[in-house]
Amino acid sequence: MRYTREMARSGYVHGEPDDDEVARLVRQARFVAAFSLDTFEAPPGARVLDVGTGVGAMAAQLVRLCPGITLTGVDVSGTQIARARVVHPIATYVQADGASLPFESGSFDRVHMSWVLEHVTDPLPILHEIRRVLTTDGVAHLSEVDHHTLVVEPPIDELRETMAIMNDVQRAIGGDPFVGAKLESLAREAGFTRVSTRRVLLRGDDHDRQVREELHAQFAGLCESLGDALEPADMERARRAAALLRARGDGTLLEYQPVVVRAFP
Ligand SMILES: C[S@@+](CC[C@H](N)C(=O)[O-])C[C@H]1O[C@@H](n2cnc3c(N)ncnc32)[C@H](O)[C@@H]1O
Repeated sequence: MRYTREMARSGYVHGEPDDDEVARLVRQARFVAAFSLDTFEAPPGARVLDVGTGVGAMAAQLVRLCPGITLTGVDVSGTQIARARVVHPIATYVQADGASLPFESGSFDRVHMSWVLEHVTDPLPILHEIRRVLTTDGVAHLSEVDHHTLVVEPPIDELRETMAIMNDVQRAIGGDPFVGAKLESLAREAGFTRVSTRRVLLRGDDHDRQVREELHAQFAGLCESLGDALEPADMERARRAAALLRARGDGTLLEYQPVVVRAFP
């Protein structure tokens, strides 16, 4: 492993939510909603919790797709919660650890969580809590990364090296960039009785230039968001990877498979 906890320069790979980071998360949420929330449904009046809401980018997508829901967003970071209140004032925001939710058992009809477990040392207490706060006929809707599934053709060395470093940093600070592959068994271990898993194949190539452009922008943004977490030389390489991604055109391919799980208590 190239990075240790001491070498990793911050406890969160994507850094503080400045304007650029908010713009990245909003763009990501719009793209992600199209494939990850197509199976999310909640009737008007449903009580919905978004765990690890960040700046509320996915929370805004939940409200757009399911108007009339009552939405609560929680995040362990006070900075994220403060930004969410300003940028997406569509929910009640509460600062709390997902592993210790300040809500009564059975108080939500739906729980949504996206791109959070990759950042935590122990996903199980969070999944236990999600199950506890759901009603017995509720649904948890979870999306997670699996960086093993990234395919780039022709390869970009700078991106391969940057992703390897990012994965090392993620693990050094206690996270798991491959958690998507384990999500179904983790949900079962947390006591969910029925779990359905979908791997979404996102392929951007000459047949789907729009998806390719969006995937390139997403991964370029990811590289650029690593700022505080990396050593300067590695950050310079990450910036080169981002520039090369943004310059890609015909004859190139980028493929990625995030994992979407629906879990029933
Ligand atoms: C990559 S962001 C995802 C934000 C949002 N879910 C989205 O899709 O745009 C991950 C978020 O998880 C939050 N987080 C990490 N560990 C957490 C925990 N134990 N409890 C609650 N939130 C947590 C971080 O503070 C960060 O805001």
